[in-house]
Amino acid sequence: MIITIDGPASAGKGTLASYLAERYRLAYFDTGMVYRAVGLEMLLKGLNTADAEAAATIAAELTFPRMMELSKHPEFRGPQGGKNASIVSAYPQVRSLLLKMQQDFALHPVFKDGSLANGAIYDGRDTGTVVCPNADIKFFVTASAEVRAERRYKEFVAKGIKIDYQEVLQDIKARDERDSTRSAAPLRPAPDAIMFDTSDLSIQEVKQKACEIIDSQLQRQKLA
Ligand code: DC
Repeated sequence: MIITIDGPASAGKGTLASYLAERYRLAYFDTGMVYRAVGLEMLLKGLNTADAEAAATIAAELTFPRMMELSKHPEFRGPQGGKNASIVSAYPQVRSLLLKMQQDFALHPVFKDGSLANGAIYDGRDTGTVVCPNADIKFFVTASAEVRAERRYKEFVAKGIKIDYQEVLQDIKARDERDSTRSAAPLRPAPDAIMFDTSDLSIQEVKQKACEIIDSQLQRQKLA
């Protein structure tokens, strides 16, 4: 079984994907990692992320094991890592060079310890539209900008980071605008995606609703 979860920033894709991966014994591919890996490799090699050709060369050389190795670096999830990932992910050539690696994972989904999984769950902005257009179940998880800003604001506060809610909201709105208008992989739901607005749902309700959908799909597959 292949499940994809697409949607805008801070909609809760990662939380839902991790939960479903554990519950259904699916290998989890957080596809933002491929762009973070390219961005970080460039940083480590002293390359400028504004150089699209250099980014493409790094993307062409990236392997899955190297990506996993880079993911242990402190800057991989850091602010600079996120910024670099965002820059390189906008290069169409980088995206197409990283496509095969992402798609191959569905052919042989394994857990981190190498054991075989029942399938894979992908999270990312284009997993249902580009990476796995034939996925069994596609979710498009979203929430209002205000709700997403509040969730992100609370995360910052929990980490002890001082920030203004209005600033977080403006940032989310600006990112939404960039995301939906950019030419490389503009954010849009697949035509057959299940739309999932989580604005008025607790995380528990989101998980429960997603499980109901998956269970009924599994039931249908069993009967077919
Ligand atoms: O989800 P994340 O923050 O780790 O993603 C890092 C960057 O990569 C972010 O700018 C969004 C982008 N990205 C993308 O363009 N396509 C994906 N499938 C996943 C992430």
